[in-house]
Amino acid sequence: KKRILSGAKPTADSLHLGNYIGAVRNWVDMQAQYDAVFFIPDLHAVTVDFDPADLAKRTRIVAAQYIAAGIDPDKSIFFVQSHVPEHAQLAWALNCITGFGEASRMTQFKDKTQKSGADSATLGLFAYPTLMAADILLYQSDLVPVGEDQRQHLELTRNLAQRFNTRFGETFTVPEATIVKESAKIYDLQNPSAKMSKTGESPNGAIQLLEDPKIAAKRIKSAVTDAGTEIRFDPAEKPGVSNLLTIFSSLTGKSIAELESDYAGKMYGHLKVDLAEVVVDFVTPLRDRTNELMADPAELDRLLAIGAGRARDIASATLAKVYDRMGFLPSL
Ligand code: TYM
Repeated sequence: KKRILSGAKPTADSLHLGNYIGAVRNWVDMQAQYDAVFFIPDLHAVTVDFDPADLAKRTRIVAAQYIAAGIDPDKSIFFVQSHVPEHAQLAWALNCITGFGEASRMTQFKDKTQKSGADSATLGLFAYPTLMAADILLYQSDLVPVGEDQRQHLELTRNLAQRFNTRFGETFTVPEATIVKESAKIYDLQNPSAKMSKTGESPNGAIQLLEDPKIAAKRIKSAVTDAGTEIRFDPAEKPGVSNLLTIFSSLTGKSIAELESDYAGKMYGHLKVDLAEVVVDFVTPLRDRTNELMADPAELDRLLAIGAGRARDIASATLAKVYDRMGFLPSL
């Protein structure tokens, strides 16, 4: 079986709809067919401003959301990154074969530091992509299902794997990104030229999976739409409406073409009212299930501990190989 691996950061009090449609949903579909590894990249969460009082809680929330969305901890390896120290250890080794210029070209780092300036960023944020490469390479992953925004990090990961293999001998599987085109990027509801994110400018731009479904409905209804009246998928001319169609199609399985014909001659308002209902029907059970799981944190922690044990078996074997290839003195 091929191995897939992916994760979503615990940097907010909930995953958002973009995380679900662009990533988590595909993981659930893939776990039956692949040997799957899903983890919560909490070491990545501390590369940006964070509050220690929130981190553990947010990590448990994401864990509960994975399970509520359909990740099965019996089928898949499911754990928290900081519980497996090999991630940080391999990241260091990879840092030492990554060019400074190469890391400087990562657009996410550039985007994140555009406003505040690179001087206010941490070395951790700069090294974020090599930690991500370590996450992937430790498990000899074949496929990495992610949204479009992670494509460049996957390219770097492939380059580092090939570079390491060439320099030190075959060690890593060179992974491939699997990006589902139609849903790879869900946009901000208030600013459809930006991706929906945990840190968007307006809270109304994102649907948080754990918020009151009434608020989610309101956000859909107040989404920015475009000039004109026609409901048509045209991301260049109609980014707002196109985004709503993508969300609609992703949550219902109806094709965009089908939706366009359903809404021919109707107004934006009709689309929004119907989509609001679709979103409410989707988030309500997911939220209820997440809250149920959150009510028993000891059980979540137990599942995560089992997952970390399974993860370490794989990760420690890879790291031992890496250290050996690099020529470190073995520790007795
Ligand atoms: P993160 O936590 O930002 O997002 C988790 C997943 O959600 C996808 N995503 C989106 N997809 C569609 N539309 C959007 N608006 C949207 N926003 C986010 C992301 O592409 C991602 O797949 N660096 C990663 C976390 C990570 C990781 C890894 C992923 C760390 N190590 C190893 C895969 C493998 C990140 O920041 O994702």
